[in-house]
Amino acid sequence: MSEEDYTYLFKVVIIGDSGVGKSNIFTRFIKDEFNLDSKATIGVEFSAKNITINDKVIKAQVWDTAGQERFRALAKNYYRGAVGALVVYDITNYDSFKNAEKWLKEVKEHAEPHLVTLLIGNKCDLEENRAVKTEDATEFAEKAGLGFVETSAKNNLNIESAFNRLVTEVFETLDKVGGEEDNTTTTTTTGKPVISDKTDTITIGTTKKNQQADSGCAC
Ligand code: GTP
Ligand code: MG
Repeated sequence: MSEEDYTYLFKVVIIGDSGVGKSNIFTRFIKDEFNLDSKATIGVEFSAKNITINDKVIKAQVWDTAGQERFRALAKNYYRGAVGALVVYDITNYDSFKNAEKWLKEVKEHAEPHLVTLLIGNKCDLEENRAVKTEDATEFAEKAGLGFVETSAKNNLNIESAFNRLVTEVFETLDKVGGEEDNTTTTTTTGKPVISDKTDTITIGTTKKNQQADSGCAC
């Protein structure tokens, strides 16, 4: 199968405060890498990976945005066309959790109308420094109508399953809103084509839907 052989292209953005671990979630998912000394992202980066759901190959085009305030206006431009968003906070940083609401509002304003969002409590390997209770995040996610999972990019915990869950939910939303299948055009949940610079995306591999570890952290 060619790397460009996919049925849908879903644009997914990773957002949240600076330092919560977005870039490491991104690199863990795309190339199974983690960096303890990663630098703050300047602007935005994107890459892609294929996921197979119900025998359909979905190309998840993932955009890692900068959390720093000075890049905020720029990052918003990249929300356009997104059908999925990972809203990330750091379980050791309460402010980053409080700010999740702000990020959520911002992405909803700029992304596709049927945007699917998942709240991610990252760094759950740092249990001894925990500042955000799992129950509080669960309650917030339930009220805001989004899924929730705790992850560790460092220990590679729940990273792949979080992306699989998000993409599966986008796929199911697409099914509900009656998007048309098309093998040649990339499609959003609204059935509208999205612009994809295929030369800049890399498909790393094909992953089967992963049903495990929907929420919580088993660090
Ligand atoms: P900006 O690009 O500034 O928005 O930050 P970011 O959200 O991309 O954070 P980044 O991925 O660069 O991670 C910030 C710091 O947290 C780095 O030192 C990472 O090594 C560390 N980090 C990221 N994920 C984890 C994790 O799961 N556990 C632990 N212990 N550290 C992590
Ligand atoms: Mg970053």
